[in-house]
Amino acid sequence: MRTEPIPATDEGIARASERLREGDILAFPTETVYGLGADARDEAAVRRVFEAKGRPAVNPLIVHVPDLDAAARHVVVDERARRLAAAFWPGPLTLVLPLRDGHGIAPSVTAGLSTLAVRAPSHPVARRLLEAFGGPVAAPSANRSGRVSPTRPEHVRAQLDGRIPWILEAGPSEVGLESTIVDLSGPEPVLLRTGAVTAEALERVVGPVARSTGEPDRPRAPGQMLRHYAPSVPVRLDATDVRPGEAWLGFGPGPTPPGAVASANLSPSGDLAEAARNLYDLLQALDRPGVSGIAVAPVPTAGLGEALVDRLRRAAAASARPPAG
Ligand code: TXA
Ligand code: MG
Repeated sequence: MRTEPIPATDEGIARASERLREGDILAFPTETVYGLGADARDEAAVRRVFEAKGRPAVNPLIVHVPDLDAAARHVVVDERARRLAAAFWPGPLTLVLPLRDGHGIAPSVTAGLSTLAVRAPSHPVARRLLEAFGGPVAAPSANRSGRVSPTRPEHVRAQLDGRIPWILEAGPSEVGLESTIVDLSGPEPVLLRTGAVTAEALERVVGPVARSTGEPDRPRAPGQMLRHYAPSVPVRLDATDVRPGEAWLGFGPGPTPPGAVASANLSPSGDLAEAARNLYDLLQALDRPGVSGIAVAPVPTAGLGEALVDRLRRAAAASARPPAG
């Protein structure tokens, strides 16, 4: 299979939505990371997404919709969901809600759960695609299962070239980290994955939000237990020096320690949003021949830093052990 680019023009977006309607899968930009989309009602198309990624069938997908009204065709929307959607949609927040009767979602999307993860992306190209397509789009991040998420079309191509037919191409994703996921299927909201919408921001809208453990080994989101966000070489956190063969990934204005075989900086000025935007690009850029490990400078955990450090910890944990499943 050849992987063809589609430009994000009016004509390109119309073509992309036509491909989805025909049961094809395609990578497309969102503000968080690039997704690999399929018609969420089409079981055969959804299965092709799992196959292209090498994703375990037990790991459910997020369904992308233009707004809460569209989500309400598939899930039961309560007052908390209405408030969160009013505050953060369109944007980098995913809500897990109970499936409703007649939801029409293909069984593989939910991996057999009675809940569905839904999100309304804010990226203008994603929004135009959803509008042109007119239905729910199931989309995990457009990486090979267990690898680093793509924030640029080149990253998608590097991992999925020859495995998917189309990439709807736009520039780099603005947020750079996957969406925040909050589970509203129980009596108390539970934060399943941190992201650009912080726990504090959620709590201002819906009151107390329980944290899932956040430990890579003790997941609440089914997919969080899997090997995830992993470069191919070991990642060492809170480093203040580099060891032989290591590349340096800095944060803030400090100097690169002597001896690094390569180096990059998440944000020379110490800006967390910039660091989030750059994280996956720089991890992928440093993961190259001649580099036997990546030493990462300390990153503060306040605000957006919590999500950033979460992804770094997962990268470190995953790259330190062999693939699970
Ligand atoms: O920012 C994002 O969310 C990106 C873009 C493309 O929208 N998508 C993304 O998808 O990160 P993915 O598949 O890489 O991560 C989805 C996460 C997985 O950890 C999965 O287990 C969890 O969402 N998830 C999906 N459905 C769920 C459900 N019903 N209950 C709990 N967790 C769920
Ligand atoms: Mg992913």
